[in-house]
Amino acid sequence: MIEITRQGASMPALGMGTWQMRGEGAVAAVRRAIDLSYRHIDTAQMYGNEAEVGRALAGCGVPRDELWLTTKIDNDNHSFERVKASVEESLTRLKTDYVDLLLIHWPVFADAPLVETLDAMAELHYAGKVRHLGVSNFSADLIAEAVDDLGHTILANQVEYHPYLGQEAVKAACAARDVIVTAYCPIVRGLVNEEPVLQAIALIHDKTPSQVTLRWLVQQDGVAAIPKAASEKNARANLDIFDFALTDDEMARIATLARGHRIVDPEGWSPVWDA
Ligand SMILES: NC(=O)c1ccc[n+]([C@@H]2O[C@H](COP(=O)([O-])OP(=O)(O)OC[C@H]3O[C@@H](n4cnc5c(N)ncnc54)[C@H](OP(=O)(O)O)[C@@H]3O)[C@@H](O)[C@H]2O)c1
Repeated sequence: MIEITRQGASMPALGMGTWQMRGEGAVAAVRRAIDLSYRHIDTAQMYGNEAEVGRALAGCGVPRDELWLTTKIDNDNHSFERVKASVEESLTRLKTDYVDLLLIHWPVFADAPLVETLDAMAELHYAGKVRHLGVSNFSADLIAEAVDDLGHTILANQVEYHPYLGQEAVKAACAARDVIVTAYCPIVRGLVNEEPVLQAIALIHDKTPSQVTLRWLVQQDGVAAIPKAASEKNARANLDIFDFALTDDEMARIATLARGHRIVDPEGWSPVWDA
């Protein structure tokens, strides 16, 4: 497993996404992920599965400090008091004293000013309840505002990123500030398996297009990926990307597939996003 080291933190480059995992299925899928050697789990208050993730992690046999746990603040919880109260509720559901990374989930839907939310998150950090502050769905301009204008330390920006969505401006803004880019929808929910260019590269390496895509992501400096796989087959396959490397030519060829294709675009907002 590749670890991404930034700002003194070391985050596993490949994590397990959990959106749409629910109930006993979520408990089983997350527990199996840990058994398969995933050490990074991504959840959110909005997913309604923190309690299941907590149950899966409790008694999984892996010490807490060997696991990386990310959660995200829901859109109605951005005021100073709600950040603090809702994270306490998350910690209770997750059955843990701290999360490794706390993200602002959707800035465009936030119900309080950014500075208020970040200040509350920082207070949780100093109280030992949040190891690192992060954001999600932040444009290049919002990253600049959070870090340069408001003076906060941001470890990661979780955004939709895959071969069909280049995210050049966001990546540049993050790289300039030592911020990790975490790719969500990294395999475009399976669509990459139909891509001829990825199929051709996959054949060379005896891998699948999904595996080539995940390798392409984590082989980039400062990029993590959190594919969701509820099935054992996919969970295993997505881990099997650390025994080969893509050539520079292959990395560049995959990058040429970018076409501004975004699959998560609630209410059609995307004024400051790039292809
Ligand atoms: N911050 C945000 O706003 C935001 C937004 C969206 C997502 N996320 C996070 O990112 C995670 C990943 O994104 P996502 O779940 O939307 O999309 P994804 O990871 O690109 O795709 C997941 C889908 O692909 C299937 N799959 C997994 N591995 C596969 C493989 N090797 N071959 C073929 N199909 C495969 C899964 O099936 P099975 O489950 O049946 O195995 C599932 O249906 C989410 O779970 C969530 O944690 C965050």
